Amino acid sequence: MSLVTTTEMFKKAYDGGYAIGAFNINNMEIVQGITEAAHELNSPIVLQASQGARKYANSIYLVKLVEAALDLYPDLPIALHLDHGADFEVCKDCVDNGFTSVMIDCSSKPFEENIAITSKVVEYAHAHGVVVEAELGTLAGIEDAVNVSAEDSSYTNPDDVEEFVSKTGVDSLAIAIGTSHGAFKFKPGTKPQLRFDILDEVVRRLPGFPIVLHGSSSVPQEYVRIINENGGALKDAIGIPEDQLREAARSAVCKINIDSDLRLGMTAGVRQVFEQQKDVFDPRSYLKVGRQYVKDIVAHKIKDVLGSDGKAADLTVR
Ligand code: G3H
Ligand code: 13P
Ligand code: ZN
Repeated sequence: MSLVTTTEMFKKAYDGGYAIGAFNINNMEIVQGITEAAHELNSPIVLQASQGARKYANSIYLVKLVEAALDLYPDLPIALHLDHGADFEVCKDCVDNGFTSVMIDCSSKPFEENIAITSKVVEYAHAHGVVVEAELGTLAGIEDAVNVSAEDSSYTNPDDVEEFVSKTGVDSLAIAIGTSHGAFKFKPGTKPQLRFDILDEVVRRLPGFPIVLHGSSSVPQEYVRIINENGGALKDAIGIPEDQLREAARSAVCKINIDSDLRLGMTAGVRQVFEQQKDVFDPRSYLKVGRQYVKDIVAHKIKDVLGSDGKAADLTVR
């Protein structure tokens, strides 16, 4: 089987009240950890590469790693997605080089400019059989060189969504309802609470339309603890409560983006080996523990948060 787009995945997820996990990939061990878990649980997945990931690994390696996973698991529905594409050129490059989905992120630009650039990407991508995600509203946190402070972040305005979707022809929409990028999403002592009222209003205006949540790591404290007990210093790392992500997954939210949790898993594994086996210098010895933790985390997300386990069997595009 070749890579699929997210069209059928999202339709089935919407109707079935679950969400597809969109996991960020940066190297072979991360691709292996994610796809082993998805294969064992028969879950469709999105593998997504940011511009930073493409720069770090070289996009060709990432595409080939994903193709290798498909060779190993030919029945696994995988979409390969560009995460946070900054402009038309990077989206075009991914469309031309094997990606089946791209995100154009002009959420920090004025509304009309966001519409204009997104429309141009949609026109090109659709002509090549590739689907497009765009964003309205601004998440706080750090992605690549862009660091949005909490004050500069803004919730999605539901008044904007119908005009944006109809004018651009986009296939899915990322909205800002209180999630944020990175491992430090909330101040200690505050109660994390997503704005489900905004989500409900968006859904009322866009019935049946797939919604995306970025910044949806839950920052599992057991991995933060392993990191800190093995020489790390992650203070007050706090994520989105899993029950709120489960609630989102049951609604119109069809894609949930997770990167920071995988970083925590990989770092916990590597730190543990470094701290506890000081004579180890074979990269396989520590990367395999990190890879196992990535796999454990993805398996937990699929089963206990997203509800996408077993759902690969329902997809006809395979
Ligand atoms: O949305 C941000 C993702 O975590 C990707 O992060 O741009 O540092 O690869 P990155
Ligand atoms: P996290 O930092 O919460 O994992 O978010 C990842 C993300 O939104 C990737 O686009
Ligand atoms: Zn994101």
